[in-house]
Amino acid sequence: MQETWIVTGGAGFIGSNFVRLALAENWCAKVVVFDALTYAGNLDNLQPYLESDSRLVFVRGDVANAGDVEKVFADHKPHRVFHFAAESHVDRSIQNSAPFVITNVLGTQLLLSAARKHETKRFLLVSTDEVYGALPLNSADKFHEKRPYCPSSPYAASKASADFLALAAFHTYGQDVVITNCSNNYGPYQFPEKLIPLMIMNALKGEQLPVYGDGLYVRDWIHVEDQCRAVRLCGLEGKSGETYCIGSDNEQPNIAVVKMILKLTGRDETLIRYVKDRPGHDRRYAIDSAKVREQLGWKPRIDWGNGLAATVRWYVDNATWLDRIRTGEFQKYYAELYGDRQ
Ligand code: NAD
Ligand code: TYD
Repeated sequence: MQETWIVTGGAGFIGSNFVRLALAENWCAKVVVFDALTYAGNLDNLQPYLESDSRLVFVRGDVANAGDVEKVFADHKPHRVFHFAAESHVDRSIQNSAPFVITNVLGTQLLLSAARKHETKRFLLVSTDEVYGALPLNSADKFHEKRPYCPSSPYAASKASADFLALAAFHTYGQDVVITNCSNNYGPYQFPEKLIPLMIMNALKGEQLPVYGDGLYVRDWIHVEDQCRAVRLCGLEGKSGETYCIGSDNEQPNIAVVKMILKLTGRDETLIRYVKDRPGHDRRYAIDSAKVREQLGWKPRIDWGNGLAATVRWYVDNATWLDRIRTGEFQKYYAELYGDRQ
């Protein structure tokens, strides 16, 4: 496809998986990664393409800076924007929500305006199922596109605001926008602040695994490659002004995930440590993805057991990647968050 795509947040976890797939499978002619390289952005995630593939261009810039945004659109005139950039971690949003409002809300508004000005064909906003709030345990209820938004964390509230801005742009200006609301992702290159990479990292090092509360909170895990393929499909074939819930019917209580990781890393359950709960912790997330499956023909390809085992292997094989992330900044974050939870 002879198109230029801007991928915001393309140096982060999901964005970089998207970019690597896009290049490996020739999804478009040119990929412009626009990323501020915050603590979560990492150019190592884009290797070896960054050094050797002229289809990939990296632009360091802030989605919440109007000048940076205007320049990347003026320089590259994208056909499509895939907007992944965000502050993405709930615990950090509880510590300080200001960067979440700036990046997730203001950043999305500036990108939407620039896309309109430069007549970008389509704006795909990557969002989350957390905009819907929480579901009770032991119910058949699931999130779906018609469910009202009810975000509970500052992170979820900022993502919900971004979604509303995108929908408002569709209704007000007729802008071509599509939103994907996906469940929890796992896979290679995920920053080790999130449950799965954090537990793998600690297990590999023989350190304690901090499980919040009773450990019975439920998340609906999807492999990152499955989410990336869904995002691409919605970006190409989704209906303008619509939202698509993405998930792979894989609800797991946190404690079950932690025990699987201990098995896969050859550690025993004495490493589990129950710690103080996260404030406002959403009990359960679950996605009904019938719409994207029936209307666009998407379905997940990666089975949970195999996907998790491959993810553990990736972290074992990429110990240097992990070591480079465990810098002073990360140690400080870890000590602050988990020190308080003893
Ligand atoms: P991440 O934190 O790993 O990466 C975020 C990327 O955005 C980083 O490269 C960072 O440098 C960049 N970024 C942050 N602020 C920026 C700014 N102001 N300007 C430019 N770049 C900036 O996040 P992720 O887990 O890859 O999530 C990507 C997107 O997917 C987010 O929008 C998130 O809300 C959404 N999402 C994530 C999950 C999940 O399980 N991780 C699930 C559903 C939806
Ligand atoms: P997380 O990966 O932060 O994703 P989210 O909160 O956005 O769903 O957390 C997933 C689940 O794991 C959530 O219920 C919180 C829990 N959790 C722990 O029990 N311990 C931890 O150290 C972390 C980071 C998360």
